[in-house]
Amino acid sequence: MSAPVVVAENLRQTYEIRRGLFRAPARLQAVGGISFAIEPGRTLAVVGESGCGKSTLARMVTLIEPPTDGDLTLDGIDAVDTPSSERRRLRRTVQLVFQNPYGSLNPRKRIGAILEQPLAINTGLSGSERRERVRAMMAKVGLRPEHDARYPHMFSGGQRQRIAIARALMLSPKLVVADEPV
Ligand SMILES: Nc1ncnc2c1ncn2[C@@H]1O[C@H](COP(=O)(O)OP(=O)(O)OP(=O)(O)O)[C@@H](O)[C@H]1O
Ligand SMILES: [Mg+2]
Repeated sequence: MSAPVVVAENLRQTYEIRRGLFRAPARLQAVGGISFAIEPGRTLAVVGESGCGKSTLARMVTLIEPPTDGDLTLDGIDAVDTPSSERRRLRRTVQLVFQNPYGSLNPRKRIGAILEQPLAINTGLSGSERRERVRAMMAKVGLRPEHDARYPHMFSGGQRQRIAIARALMLSPKLVVADEPV
């Protein structure tokens, strides 16, 4: 058995809800202490009713927001108490596919540019190398090469979902967290 990609121990998220000037804020427990480990190549599905904390858990695991309490280890590295340079590196090893791909894809950008952007920001690849990677990824998720000039609104819902997944995979992450509606 290989070392887990992610280990969560008693992860907790509590939000403070302001109730006006003279009342103490209320505390809302969005995730109440969850523990799990995922090994490379394995999938964990978290299912539950609306508002039970699934997206909040996804945001903690992908380092978008820190937990209120608990421990999180990504790729063997403590992801909670870690210097910011290391956090930046860790952020690239976990990618989030958002619940609403239409909202997370920039409507003014062509798909080719959307998929190329993570490579342009995070790698030293040349333009032609980046475009080659984009072409390969589009083929992998079942999009035709000429689709790269289209804008997000010109795709079906399922195609947009695949674009969001393709974007998440561009930097070869160790863990992909998909926040999917069912
Ligand atoms: N930033 C925030 N501030 C305050 N409360 C929040 C915040 N984010 C989420 N919540 C609350 O935390 C709880 C969990 O929300 P979350 O979005 O994680 O649910 P979910 O399981 O993803 O639901 P759904 O299936 O509807 O997507 C909800 O009660 C929500 O209202
Ligand atoms: Mg959600």
